[in-house]
Amino acid sequence: MKKKTLPAAPLAPTPPMGWNSWNTFSWNINADLIKTSADAMVETGLRDAGYRYIVIDDCWSLRDRVKGKLVPDPEKFPDGMKDVADYVHSKGLKFGMYSCAGTHTCAGYPGSFEHEYEDARTFASWGVDYLKYDYCYKPGAADGANLYRRMGMALRNCGRDIVFSACNWGADGVHDWIRQTGANLFRSTGDIQDSWQSIERLVRSQLGKECYGGPYCHNDMDMLVVGMHGNSDNSWIAEVAGGCTATEYKTHFALWAIMNSPLMIGCDIRKMSDSTKEILMNPDVIAINQDIECRGPFCIRQWNNPEKVFALIKPLYGGDYAIGFFNFGDRKSEMSLQFYDIGLPYSSGYGLELYDCYAHKTIGKFSERYAAQIDSHDCLMFRAKVVKR
Ligand code: GLA
Repeated sequence: MKKKTLPAAPLAPTPPMGWNSWNTFSWNINADLIKTSADAMVETGLRDAGYRYIVIDDCWSLRDRVKGKLVPDPEKFPDGMKDVADYVHSKGLKFGMYSCAGTHTCAGYPGSFEHEYEDARTFASWGVDYLKYDYCYKPGAADGANLYRRMGMALRNCGRDIVFSACNWGADGVHDWIRQTGANLFRSTGDIQDSWQSIERLVRSQLGKECYGGPYCHNDMDMLVVGMHGNSDNSWIAEVAGGCTATEYKTHFALWAIMNSPLMIGCDIRKMSDSTKEILMNPDVIAINQDIECRGPFCIRQWNNPEKVFALIKPLYGGDYAIGFFNFGDRKSEMSLQFYDIGLPYSSGYGLELYDCYAHKTIGKFSERYAAQIDSHDCLMFRAKVVKR
C-alpha cells in the first residue's frame, strides 16, 4: 500500500476566498472564460489581495457519464479539465469544481450519488483543489448527512488536498451536523440574487447562527454579488435591473466579512469598475474576515430602531475588535454603541481607539460610547483597540 502523506496543514483555517462562475455566467462557461478569469485574478491584484480559488460551477460536464466517469463537455472544455487546472495553477491560483450529492446536479447534469469515491479520484487526477457539492436530486430516502459524510471521506482519502464546500442551502438542520462530515464550508442559505432584498434576507437568516462556523468549517452565506450591477446570463439572479448600488455592495461585502462567510466573487472580474475593485480589495475589511481565530460576531441592536439598525462586534486575534455598524432602513439613522454592552465598562479605565477601515486611518479615542449617523443601506467598519483612557 502506498504510504499516505498528511496534508501540509489542515485545509481552510480561514474562510476561502476566490471566484465562482455561477452568478454571472451560469451555464455559459468554457475553458477560455476560466483562463481569462484566472488572468484577471492576477492582473487586477485580486490574487495578491488574498483571492485564490477559481471555481467552475454547474454545467461543465456531458449530460451522461461515459463508462461510469464524469467527462467534461468537449465543446466547452476541448482540452479537458487537467489543461484548465494546469493553467490556473500556473498563475499561482487554486482550481475548484462542482458536483452534487444527488443523482443529478441542479441543472440536470450527472451528480455524484453512488459515485463518490470514483469522482473524488477523478477530481484529484485533474488537479482539483476545491469541490463545491450541491444538494439537488437527493433521493428522498437517502440521508443528507450521510451523503456529505461519504464525499467528505472520499475527498480526505483521494490522494490530493481538496477543500470540501458543502452546498445544501441550510436544509435539514445542516448547522448541527455538517462539521462532523469533514466539510470545510457549508452553504447555509438559499441562492443569492443581485438585489438588496436578497442580501438583507440572507443576513437576517444567519444572524444568531454565529456559533456554528469556525476554523476549518465556515458558514457560507453564498457567493458575492458585489460588482454585478445586474449583469448576469441568469435572469433569476439578475432579478432587479441594475442590481445594487455601490453603497449596497460595500455593505454586503462588510457583512460577509464580519460574519465570517467565505468571500467568493461572483461578478465578471475581467470587467470590474474601480469602485468594485476598491470594495473587493479593501485590505482592512479582508483582514477582519481572515482573522485566524474565526470568531463569529455578536449583535447589538440600536435601542430605538432594533430591526433595522445594529452593530456586529467580533473579537480578533491579539485583543482588537472588529466593529461594524449597519443600517438596513430606508433613511439615515443613528447607531450608538455603549462600550458597556461589548464588555468594556467605564470602571475599567479603558476606552476604544477606532481605526476606520474605509478611510484607512484612526479617527480617535472614545471613552464610553461611540455614536454615528449611517446612511440608508450603508455601513461603517472599525478595528477597535482597547487603550488606557
Ligand atoms: C444551486 C446552488 C447554486 C448553483 C446552482 C447550479 O442552486 O445553490 O449556488 O451552484 O445550484 O445549478
